[in-house]
Amino acid sequence: MKEAERLNITRSLELFEEAKTLVPGGVLGARKPGDFIMGEYPIFLEYGKGCRLIDVDGNEYIDFLCGYGPIILGYREEEVDDAVIRQIKDKGFCFSLTQPYQNELAKKLNRFIPSAELSIFLKTGSDATTAAIRIARAYTGKVKVMRCGYHGWHDWCVEMKGGIPEKFYEDVYEFHYNDLERLEELMAKHGNQTAAIIMTPFGHPLHQKMQVPKPGFLEGVRELANKYGAVLVFDEVRTCFRLRMGGAQELYGVTPDLTVLGKGMANGYAISVVTGKKDVMMAAASKLFISSTFFPNSDGYIAALKTIEIMEREKVIENIWEKGERFMKKIQTLIDKYNVGAELTGVAPMFFITFDGSNADLVRGKRTDFYTQMIRKGFFFTPHHHAYISYRHTEEDLALTLQAIEESMAYVSEKYKE
Ligand SMILES: Cc1ncc(COP(=O)(O)O)c(C=O)c1O
Repeated sequence: MKEAERLNITRSLELFEEAKTLVPGGVLGARKPGDFIMGEYPIFLEYGKGCRLIDVDGNEYIDFLCGYGPIILGYREEEVDDAVIRQIKDKGFCFSLTQPYQNELAKKLNRFIPSAELSIFLKTGSDATTAAIRIARAYTGKVKVMRCGYHGWHDWCVEMKGGIPEKFYEDVYEFHYNDLERLEELMAKHGNQTAAIIMTPFGHPLHQKMQVPKPGFLEGVRELANKYGAVLVFDEVRTCFRLRMGGAQELYGVTPDLTVLGKGMANGYAISVVTGKKDVMMAAASKLFISSTFFPNSDGYIAALKTIEIMEREKVIENIWEKGERFMKKIQTLIDKYNVGAELTGVAPMFFITFDGSNADLVRGKRTDFYTQMIRKGFFFTPHHHAYISYRHTEEDLALTLQAIEESMAYVSEKYKE
């Protein structure tokens, strides 16, 4: 059984010790070492380029987390960075009034996203999901919300409830992806008071296998929203400009009333959007207040415009689907060959290797061993979150990755042999 050598992450660990004296817990949220494998993964990165990362100890990785989603092209994509730097140097990006790029970007979104008519621009996905819910409540005059998937860290939807009075989320009910029956039950009970159904149109529940829609699922949700007069919101923060330019709604042919997007649209620069049908979106103009000092900063708009231009010109989505589908087929062949209870779910642009087993310890053991081998070999996947493919992953990068997956599967197979 050939075990990969443990990485030297001394500098990461030193910085983490120092960080714990400066930042609660050292690093926040999904960047915590506990969300990876303690002692195996780096904690601090030095730089990245294309699909590669270098940590503070000088270890190099081929990366499949893509900054948790925003990196659709690659790290330090020169054309995008140059456009932003030019804007900063030649014109500036932070003013008391809005620069005209918002109109240009809104027109682009109208071209690509089936539900887009009017748009508002914010910074983070959490800003945008929260804004969408506020708009839906203002538009309908109703309070309750049905939700499915991760929608960010704000009071109404975050999983960890510490610090949040119950009244802030008591009107929010959860249903699971592909479980139309549960949503029907909820709507039968609360439909007349429901302002919004918000869901990821492609199933990527936290830490779990990914799911494509069962036939009729998305259409069924659309019908329920129509029947009860609720606003249907698709949270396409991960899927817009990744599954299709127009998101999962374009791929699956079901159009919501509002769409939330962020991540991939600007290759790492902070910008998010709520876009949707005119009559619903107009609630944002008259009935409520959404504003931030930083929302109109044009760096994100410029990055988004340039990223979208490159994606269109280079046919980035087609590129990712083509190489991703070949890659997934080969991963599946390895899973079948080694038969270690691994499962591959998702679609070419975003996929996940998970493990099954007769008990939780066995599942954890295989998962930890597989992902430990991968990180030691220099492949940055994570055990608790699906992977992404970016435009800058080359066939050669993917071939090297397949070799590492094969060796890591062989290691797990040998270690867990009956
Ligand atoms: C589907 C979805 N919605 C909303 C969010 C929140 O976005 P942000 O982290 O930019 O606040 C995320 C972040 O991962 C997400 O994946």
